[in-house]
Amino acid sequence: MIQRARLIGAEREEVIIKHIDLSSSRENHRGWGGDISHQRKVRSYQVETAFYRAFAMQCDEHCRVPKFIAAHEKEDQGGWILVLEDLDSAKFSSRKHGVTAAEIRDCLSWLANFHATFMNSDALGLWSIGTYWHLATRPDELAAMEDGPLKEFAAEIDRRLNQTQSQTLVHGDAKVANFCFSDRDDDGQVAAVDFQYVGRGCGMKDVAYFISSCLSEKEAAEQQESLLSFYFERLQEFLAIRHIDFNFSALEHEWRELYPFAWADFCRFLSGWSPGHWKLNNYSDRITQSVIAQLTGS
Ligand SMILES: Nc1ncnc2c1ncn2[C@@H]1O[C@H](COP(=O)(O)OP(=O)(O)O)[C@@H](O)[C@H]1O
Ligand SMILES: [Mg+2]
Repeated sequence: MIQRARLIGAEREEVIIKHIDLSSSRENHRGWGGDISHQRKVRSYQVETAFYRAFAMQCDEHCRVPKFIAAHEKEDQGGWILVLEDLDSAKFSSRKHGVTAAEIRDCLSWLANFHATFMNSDALGLWSIGTYWHLATRPDELAAMEDGPLKEFAAEIDRRLNQTQSQTLVHGDAKVANFCFSDRDDDGQVAAVDFQYVGRGCGMKDVAYFISSCLSEKEAAEQQESLLSFYFERLQEFLAIRHIDFNFSALEHEWRELYPFAWADFCRFLSGWSPGHWKLNNYSDRITQSVIAQLTGS
């Protein structure tokens, strides 16, 4: 639950309180041994707290996130309270369902800067592999999948993504709903929230998932190349600003090849979790088929 609180006599007038109560969920699952969904949630709040405590301060205005104020974990993993800067008071009061071409680029720019900021991060206290659909945390969805090549190659697709030379932190749930847009027209700035699934990974996972959250199959197909080129230009620029000594063309080559793998990996989750999901469309099917063809050598 998200609440806005007004503080009297404090440095900040308004703060956001993210309150999570897992005590009832824990009671329901006690004794079931290895309840994966509950454990995933517990870990996700520990990770979000760790992110705000120890990583958020490295994010500058090009990948704006709320500032951390305080956190408290209830006894026995019963719940969490996170107190954060209110982004609405810092001009990011606008939320979007549909996004314009310019807003898509603003979000991709946020992702590129975030990925540049955390290139080769140790991810201490975060997920060792980021995203909420990561295979190791989704055995039930894998089991629920219809037999077929995507299920058969799920582990291999995951392995390829995890073996990328260039690892950064991925946001892990970078959909349009987790971006907060500036209320000043066209200043091009966005901020992001919801860091429960932040962890190490290939940046293409965020990019593919972000595109899936805001473009139709037709738009995703038509714009794929221009959006990827825009993302990589920004990434190169942001890495250069940080003077990170980097073989950028090797990174770009490797990550571009992994873009279809990132899509296939997300489709693997969707087809176990919600087989008729609208994101399982002609575009994502074609990409998944191309990955399978590559893996089978056909
Ligand atoms: N610090 C913040 N400032 C302003 N709005 C926020 C802040 N944190 C969260 N929100 C708003 O609340 C929504 C839900 O928060 P989020 O952390 O994404 O929780 P959930 O895990 O329930 O999705 C966000 O999409 C955003 O609109
Ligand atoms: Mg959210």
